Amino acid sequence: MDPSNTPKGPSPHYSLYQRELFRRGGEEGILPSFSIHPDELVESTKQTLNNRAYFYANSNAGLGWTDRANREAFYRWRIVPLALRDTSTRDLTVTILGHKIPAPIIFGPIGINKLYSPLGELVPAKVAGELGLPYCLSTAASQSIEDVAKANDLGASIKNESNSVHQYSGPNGGNAQSPRFYQLYMGHDDDVTISLLERAWKSGFDVCMLTTDTWQLGWRPTDINIANYVFYYPGPVGNEVGASDPVFMKKDGKELLADSGKWIDSSVWHGKAHTWKKIPWLIQQWKRISKGRPFVIKGIQSVADAVKAYEVGCEGIVVTNHAGRQVDGAIGSLEVLPDIVKATGDKMTIIFDSGIRTGADVFKALALGAHAVMIGRLYVWGMSHEGEHGCRHVLKSLLADLDILMTVAGYRSISQDVCNRAADVLRYNPSGVFPSPKEHAKL
Ligand code: GLV
Repeated sequence: MDPSNTPKGPSPHYSLYQRELFRRGGEEGILPSFSIHPDELVESTKQTLNNRAYFYANSNAGLGWTDRANREAFYRWRIVPLALRDTSTRDLTVTILGHKIPAPIIFGPIGINKLYSPLGELVPAKVAGELGLPYCLSTAASQSIEDVAKANDLGASIKNESNSVHQYSGPNGGNAQSPRFYQLYMGHDDDVTISLLERAWKSGFDVCMLTTDTWQLGWRPTDINIANYVFYYPGPVGNEVGASDPVFMKKDGKELLADSGKWIDSSVWHGKAHTWKKIPWLIQQWKRISKGRPFVIKGIQSVADAVKAYEVGCEGIVVTNHAGRQVDGAIGSLEVLPDIVKATGDKMTIIFDSGIRTGADVFKALALGAHAVMIGRLYVWGMSHEGEHGCRHVLKSLLADLDILMTVAGYRSISQDVCNRAADVLRYNPSGVFPSPKEHAKL
């Protein structure tokens, strides 16, 4: 932790955040105001949020077994540390969907962020901009597309230690200052879909990510118990993308005034499935609007679907089970990743999502062939504690954790030493018994 040991490397020295925290404690007596141990972080979130916000962030389908399977899958893969390797500079950079980014981490699309902090999505969008990491905005957001883009630009314009080294290499034609992706929930009114895509493109979101596993919310007992659907309560949040959409408002604005569920019920979680037949049309629209920028399907859990996504013209997929919130008793996302990578990893960008909590998790997902990971609950837990500061603290901690893991495990470069090198850098232990969070807390 010698701060003068900062040889120029491709990545920011994220590890120095550990020193900063130790110094602040040692010299000024200032400790972090909440634990960034993920098990403790979720627990303390319960104290900071009201029930609706807490249960919405943490609800799972059914018994929560898919959520557990996600974590178990990580537990069974073990990293092989190497000795006496020169890791004094690390390279955590990757290139994803046309953007060179300083670390392989994307802010995943999470809706209704005003539940967690008054400024909602402006908070993570700004922090993502500061860190130079891609931010993916949800159609179920509680801020407009345009305002989120501004917050992301504001973050990117802030010069700080961690973004002074990162390099953007935005795609031709995109006007994004910092990489940003738009997650689409597609309703059945094509005019509204096109309007959303046009707004996203105009605001610098240059990847379209269609979610396919959530036309309707899964059966989540902890939300059912408290009728946790904020759109149906007075003073609803989560309609902001619709309420700021000229096409939707022209058609349905009056109804939205009378029925606050109108946007969500018609355009987001409408319960009326689309099929593969619709995808070529959507890709065509996005390509026309964005002049050819990437299209990605989120929600892939089988090799057959990954191949199909490639065949219909997707540039990428997100291997995710929606963090265990949709189908209970399903496979862990990490379990299916290696087969999907084998079938399509050299043809498409593979983003992994579902259960990432630590630097070791990021390392494992990349070793198993993902090109980048998305995080979700982690940043929500952070912003639930201290808004922007909490969100930044959690992200900088994750980046430091990953950077330090690379150092101590003897791996210098994510792309050269880790990506898709599971055979060399990981071992699988099928009998690993995963401690429950309660057992874990006693350790
Ligand atoms: C929405 O994406 C949800 O999981 O609630």
